[in-house]
Parts: sequence; C-alpha cells; structure tokens
Amino acid sequence: MSRGRKRTRHQAEHERLLHRGTVDHYRDTALYDFEYADRDSDVSWYRALARVRAPSLPILELGAGTGRITCPLARDGHSLVALDSMQSMLAALRRRAKEEGLEGTIRTVVADMRALPLPDASVGLVISPFNALMHLYTWQDLLTCFREAARVLAPGGALAFDVEQPDLEWLTWDSDERYAVTPFVHPESGARMVYSTNHRYDPETQVCHIRIYYDDAPPPGRRFVAPPQPAKLVHLAHRQIFPEELRMLVAMAGLEMESHTGDFEGVALGPGVQSQVVIANKPRTDAVTGDDAPTSDDAP
Ligand SMILES: C[S@@+](CC[C@H](N)C(=O)[O-])C[C@H]1O[C@@H](n2cnc3c(N)ncnc32)[C@H](O)[C@@H]1O
Repeated sequence: MSRGRKRTRHQAEHERLLHRGTVDHYRDTALYDFEYADRDSDVSWYRALARVRAPSLPILELGAGTGRITCPLARDGHSLVALDSMQSMLAALRRRAKEEGLEGTIRTVVADMRALPLPDASVGLVISPFNALMHLYTWQDLLTCFREAARVLAPGGALAFDVEQPDLEWLTWDSDERYAVTPFVHPESGARMVYSTNHRYDPETQVCHIRIYYDDAPPPGRRFVAPPQPAKLVHLAHRQIFPEELRMLVAMAGLEMESHTGDFEGVALGPGVQSQVVIANKPRTDAVTGDDAPTSDDAP
C-alpha cells in the first residue's frame, strides 16, 4: 500500500474516532445526568461570576448540555442562550427548564461553538463549563471559538470556562487495563451494570481517546470480569490543552487573561492540579492599531 493511502486511512480513522468522541457520551442524557449529579462546585462558581459579570446582558453558554449550569443561572434571574451541537442534550435541557418553569428565560440554539449565530457585542458573559472546549481538537478550532466569543461579547464582557490540566502520568496509564470499575443501576432502564474506563493518549494530536465500558453486572456474589465485548462502548475524545498554549490562544483572540487557576477555589496551577479555570476579558476599548497608532513622527 502506498504511504499516501495509508496516511489517508489513518486520517479517516482519526476523524471517525473524533466524531464518536464528540457524540457518543451525550446520546444517553439520563445517564449523563446520573453520572454527574454530584458535580456542584462549578455550579456555585458560575453563579457567583454571573452575579457580578452579567447583571443585565444575556449569558451565552457554549456546550450547554442538559442545563446542569444553565438552569441554576436562569433561576437566579439571568436570561441565557444555551448553545450545543447535540439536539438530544438541548431537548433534555428544555425538559428540565420546563419542569422548573424557566422556559421563558432560556433560548436553546443547536450550533457549533466555532460559528456563533449571534450578533456582535450582544452578550455580557460567555461561559463554557465542564471541559466542553476539550471537544475542539486543534488549536485552530480553539482560536476560532475564542475569536467568536470575543466578537459576541460586549466590551468589558468576560469569557469563562474550565478544562482539565493535562496529567502526563494519567495520560500514559496502560490502555488495556480497566479503571474506575463501578457497579450501578441504569437510571431509566433499571438494568444492573458495571462502569469502567481506560484511555489512550496520542501525543501528536494531544487527543486523549477515553473508552467508557458499560457491561452487564455479574450475578450477586460473583466477581466482575471484563468480557471480551462490552455491552456498550462509549468513546469520549478530549484534546489536552496545556496552560501556556491556552494563554497564547486567549491572547491571540484579543482577550486579556484575568485569572487562570487550578480549581474553583482559586488554587494555583501546578503539579497534582486537575483543572484550569479561566476568566478572560474583552477589553473595554479596542487597542489602537494600524493608521491610528501613534508613530515616532507624532512624538512631541
Ligand atoms: C461535558 S458536556 C458539558 C455540558 C454542560 N456544560 C455541563 O456542564 O454539564 C460538553 C457539551 O459540549 C457539547 N459540544 C461538543 N462539541 C461542541 C461544539 N463543537 N459546539 C457546540 N457544542 C459542543 C456536547 O454536545 C456536550 O453537550
């Protein structure tokens, strides 16, 4: 086989995995909500931020999912644009909003976070909670998204998000093992199942390919042994974003880093820290550039 054809096949396989890695995990929305029901330190952080940074203009949430963050913000009185590429996630968000009587304050938009169907300077705060930006798989995609966020933000507005801090030790774990083996009962079907994961990191693309296995639970009293074929296999792709790369992309998008910490309490980035929590601001006035910029001839 020619090298070109081999490369094309490799590229096609990579793209297939990225596609699965973007959608698989978000098809079963009941399971998504069940798995992340205990995650709440981010909810209070985004609520506190919105109180001070979006008192009047709407908030745009990129990758809003099932509304885990959106609905608490709407309850606080904010109006929101909840944007996501997955129709199923936004349908779950609308159900949740309806149950809570919040339909009037949340507009759902199926779109890609790299092309925002919103006018310039129309929102006060853009948020992207819980690793949503890790589904942008190249630096160009991230930069495009940051530039779009900067465009739709009013001057003085903020982009806030959290992503993982790459953990080089974890990324290189044995990809044939099963980790986090956890029995559970499916929230909708009631089936007794076992959850486990492993992952393979590609250092060239910086994408970590996580496999989440859902297997039938063994009969009571019997030890779980991973079967050769899982009952269900979910692929989740997360591009690792290194802190210096993140600072550079934020700056290239014309945003100014206000804070870049390792958790929602403000701990400094460093070894053992799992997250990167970012607030970056759109300057209040455009920087002086081009013909308007002072030159040495203008000097007194
Ligand atoms: C981990 S979930 C986060 C959901 C929600 N923000 C939360 O905190 O629970 C990531 C979300 O990003 C969405 N997503 C992934 N890639 C996207 C893209 N390019 N444009 C818009 N949404 C995207 C997924 O469909 C998913 O709902």
